[in-house]
Amino acid sequence: MTSYSQDELKALVGQAALHYVVPGEIVGVGTGSTVNKFIDALASMKDRIAGAVSSSEASTARLAALGIRVFDANEVESLSVYIDGADEIDGGGHMVKGGGAALTREKIVAAQSRSFVCIADASKRVDVLGRFPLPVEVIPMAAQRIARQFAAQGGEARLRMKDGVPLVTDNGQHILDVQGLQIRDPLGFEMQVSQWPGVVTVGVFACQKANVCLLGTPGGVETIRY
Ligand code: 5RP
Repeated sequence: MTSYSQDELKALVGQAALHYVVPGEIVGVGTGSTVNKFIDALASMKDRIAGAVSSSEASTARLAALGIRVFDANEVESLSVYIDGADEIDGGGHMVKGGGAALTREKIVAAQSRSFVCIADASKRVDVLGRFPLPVEVIPMAAQRIARQFAAQGGEARLRMKDGVPLVTDNGQHILDVQGLQIRDPLGFEMQVSQWPGVVTVGVFACQKANVCLLGTPGGVETIRY
């Protein structure tokens, strides 16, 4: 068995994801260090795709720097495939996402895509979602009230900070990271929390779960279908 570093596993799954890109079409592109490997690999076929819809300013900048045309989501009715990483993925393809603060746009692009290909190294695989602090994008004035709602469910919410001030997302909002949850019913949880006033996006992806996961393991890339 080959011993890959985590970085090498990310590169392996990023490369493997090219097989899911449909030539001639626009591809949905996520955010994060694993997706950065995918974007770098995508440059090798940039003349064979129409372009990309991106889920963050960071991915847009990387795509554009490599000469890949970036379309606004409103210009595109639907996408065949969306490729993105995850902070956690369970045995049913439900995910926790938002470690890179891009969860809202990620959910939007995933929703306009017919399939979601998750690229992740094996450290992301969990039995029950909740080990990774759950990111929730919130309207700033609702942050403390939402934190209290999580506390009532046994979760401890912290405002995500950057350089000593609350992190501001691409959408001008804040992020709560919630520890101590065990999310055994991802779909029910996502539907419930999404209704709370002031919640922009909860980082559970159950409505937009993965259809395929390309998991980087010590034995190579494992393909899991849901
Ligand atoms: C960004 C995300 C990422 O997909 C998630 O954080 C995984 O990132 P990485 O590939 O760097 O581990 O949801 O908002």
